[in-house]
Amino acid sequence: MSQTYESPDLPSSPVSALSPAWRHVLDQPMGMRAELDRLRRHAPFYDATVDEIDGRRIRIGDHWLTDFASCNYLGLDLDQEIIEAVPEYLDRWGTHPSWSRLIASPRMYDDIEHTLAALLGAEDALLLPTITHIQLSVLPALVGKGALFVEVHAHQTAHDGAVVAAAHGAAVARFREDRLDRLERRLRTSPHPRVVCVDGVHSMTGNGPPLAELAALTRAHDALLYVDDAHGFGVVGERDPAASSPYGSRGNGIVRHLGETYDDLVLVGGFSKAYSSLLAFVACPTEVKEYLKSTAGPYVFSGPSPVASLATGLVGLRVNAERGDAIRARLHRLTSRFLDGLRGLGLFTLNASGFPIIEIPLVDAAQAEPLGRFLFERGIFASVVPFPVVPREQVGVRIQVTAANTNAEIDHLLAVLAEAVERFPLVSVPQARAGD
Ligand SMILES: Cc1ncc(COP(=O)(O)O)c(C=O)c1O
Repeated sequence: MSQTYESPDLPSSPVSALSPAWRHVLDQPMGMRAELDRLRRHAPFYDATVDEIDGRRIRIGDHWLTDFASCNYLGLDLDQEIIEAVPEYLDRWGTHPSWSRLIASPRMYDDIEHTLAALLGAEDALLLPTITHIQLSVLPALVGKGALFVEVHAHQTAHDGAVVAAAHGAAVARFREDRLDRLERRLRTSPHPRVVCVDGVHSMTGNGPPLAELAALTRAHDALLYVDDAHGFGVVGERDPAASSPYGSRGNGIVRHLGETYDDLVLVGGFSKAYSSLLAFVACPTEVKEYLKSTAGPYVFSGPSPVASLATGLVGLRVNAERGDAIRARLHRLTSRFLDGLRGLGLFTLNASGFPIIEIPLVDAAQAEPLGRFLFERGIFASVVPFPVVPREQVGVRIQVTAANTNAEIDHLLAVLAEAVERFPLVSVPQARAGD
């Protein structure tokens, strides 16, 4: 696929002096977002306008780069069967339903929810447009005036949901998943309902949570375990001897992958990564789904996903059933090729799972921007992750592999990293061991 869209010559707007009302807004300190703001304004690998794509190659201005910042893990964004299926849905349903879900939903919603629940092996599922909507509404609705515990490294959207929950009267606290003894002490005396929130496959380290220990702990205290598996759904799934790769079969998420059940467990996942679509879900019992239909704000008050997203979600599920395991086997091969190459360079990564999110930390966090520029100039588009998005010792570059990447692209990335090792102090395996 290769199409060029030239931007029209737009008249530039006159730059006016800002009134005091706007100045008061902009005079507010950036606080923890200062470094992110600085990078966004100055670095070519942030806030970029992509002019053209060709497979996993992207053009930014006159620069062609290989995209290793994409979350389209299965490459379904480029899948011809899915692309060709969309117009038929648009003909039948128009571009957008535009009712809030409380008022009405096209039949596609029911079809996706049923297919999804069967794929996950969960009792039921409720669709909303994004995980962000879910964190901000479902988390507060579940916990009410009870107690919410959010893992300290969970995604920012979960912490934002906790702020809303606190405003509605919940007692909110953070915990560390490597100190479950402390969580246990606090759970014992906290009010009900109790909800413990963690990431599934972590968006920076690429690793899964200690799910069995967490589930045992929450069940013992009549608490719910809420798992945000944005990056696991579609990539990892139930394990069986016939699985096409160590990622398991069917891509039905981290709970099935780690052999857990949905007893007292809420699985949240999204289509915006592995399925390349704008849709997200909460897997829960049907009675809880009915409760959320009245209490989760976006179900009641917000617009739904566009028809093109519902169509790519629905057809994506069909493609997953037919070809998903073969795609995951390819994704695993490409990721292993990269991880083997990284080991060959003596470099350390936080990734201990083999899943396709590979963060390489820097010894010196101040080198993040120069490293990002070095990669950009050599045709690599990767996420440079600053503090406080990750802890200072984890500042570095995040590589995401997708099934639409090629062996040649992985080899080029490794060659560029081999050059980078000479110039930038990346954490090596012996250094990482010494720091254990
Ligand atoms: C772990 C995690 N949770 C939630 C989100 C937000 O997902 P959505 O784009 O569906 O709002 C992301 C997106 O990057 C994520 O990585």
